[in-house]
Amino acid sequence: MRFVDIISKKRYGGALTEEEIIFFIKEYVKGNIPDYQVSALLMAIVFNGMNLEEISVLTREMMHSGDVIDLSAIKGIKVDKHSTGGVGDKTSLVLGPLVASFGVPVAKMSGRGLGHTGGTLDKLESIPSLTIELSGERFINQVNTVGCAIIGQTGNLVPADKKLYALRDVTATVESIPLIASSIMSKKLASGSDTILLDVKYGSGAFMKTLEQGRELARLMVNIGNSLGRDTRAILTNMDQPLGLAIGNNLEVKEAVVTLHGHGPHDFSELCKRAAAIMLEQAKVVKDQKDALGLIEEKIKSGEAFAKFREMVKAQGGDLSYIDDLTKFPVTKNIIPVLSTKEGYVEHIDSLAVGVGGMKLGAGRATVDDVLDMSAGIILNKKVGDFVKKGETLATLYSNKESKTNNEVLKEVHDAYLISKEKIGTPPIISDYIK
Ligand code: URA
Repeated sequence: MRFVDIISKKRYGGALTEEEIIFFIKEYVKGNIPDYQVSALLMAIVFNGMNLEEISVLTREMMHSGDVIDLSAIKGIKVDKHSTGGVGDKTSLVLGPLVASFGVPVAKMSGRGLGHTGGTLDKLESIPSLTIELSGERFINQVNTVGCAIIGQTGNLVPADKKLYALRDVTATVESIPLIASSIMSKKLASGSDTILLDVKYGSGAFMKTLEQGRELARLMVNIGNSLGRDTRAILTNMDQPLGLAIGNNLEVKEAVVTLHGHGPHDFSELCKRAAAIMLEQAKVVKDQKDALGLIEEKIKSGEAFAKFREMVKAQGGDLSYIDDLTKFPVTKNIIPVLSTKEGYVEHIDSLAVGVGGMKLGAGRATVDDVLDMSAGIILNKKVGDFVKKGETLATLYSNKESKTNNEVLKEVHDAYLISKEKIGTPPIISDYIK
């Protein structure tokens, strides 16, 4: 088989056979196909797409390109969720313990942030002494005793995606529904949970710019997951503004703790409860989602959800005094208000611009080697639908940077707000649910 013939077939819009896809993944991971040829194939896929059968085979082959985690030593139905990447998305910090407080095991492998989106591992590491590096044995033991663990990837999971993603990043081939779906689903399927809830983001800060594109990606991933025997469902959530109020590592941990106590921002709290209700239905511990929502409120009110978070943090070596007294977290030396120059209703907040602003302040990485400032970030004082007067604070920057960077971010965050004269309603957080 010659790889050039595979490129040529896809270039002219043909469908690749199972053998051709197996050859592509196996030989690329072994280092037998050069990056320049794979780049050409990726670009042909961007332009000509793939059918469901091609995408399923690609996902399966990527999943089996490395270790597949065996969670069978954990009792019960293991549930997992995955977000396609948002700004201010600290959902896993709340969902993991909330769902685990019902006795449903959550064995979660998360990632680090890159670019304008943050990563759950970085957020967790802003809790002093907490480790996200657990051996496989300790991970399973923690899930069996505490009920949840959130750790970095163990083993050699989906090496095909590591190579392909790095190549896609530098060849402008990330934004392709078949490539995104196979990348995400191969990792989720390899990490071993029985059920998967996908939070597919759409809007200004997301890969999928429109609800329709988001739906297409969601349907595809749900299809792939279910066809490979996992109960897979998806929610479509709007990224036309950041999620919640906090963007930045320890700022987001503080917001997650406040939310576990029942006092979180409305959109973020709503998303956590609705997602938890779906996961509890997937785990078959509730009659239906409506039933679950009432029970979830009780778990939050009784303090059981926060207690579960505490147990998880303790088991992973974190200093509990910080989450018990949020004022202990370090705060940046500069706290800078972003003032409105207009009066009216907030119509839109460009999530991408706010995410990049947070990154410039030190909350995120422009390259994998960048060192994070755990206390840096942005708090939104106004969200879509809020009324704002001229001179009122739209957002607040938390920064240890010098004034040149602070002023640049101040302007960008100011410009990220679109203020309109018309009264705007609060947008729904979940736009669609696909199963
Ligand atoms: N997240 C992934 O893991 N892969 C993609 O291709 C896009 C987002």
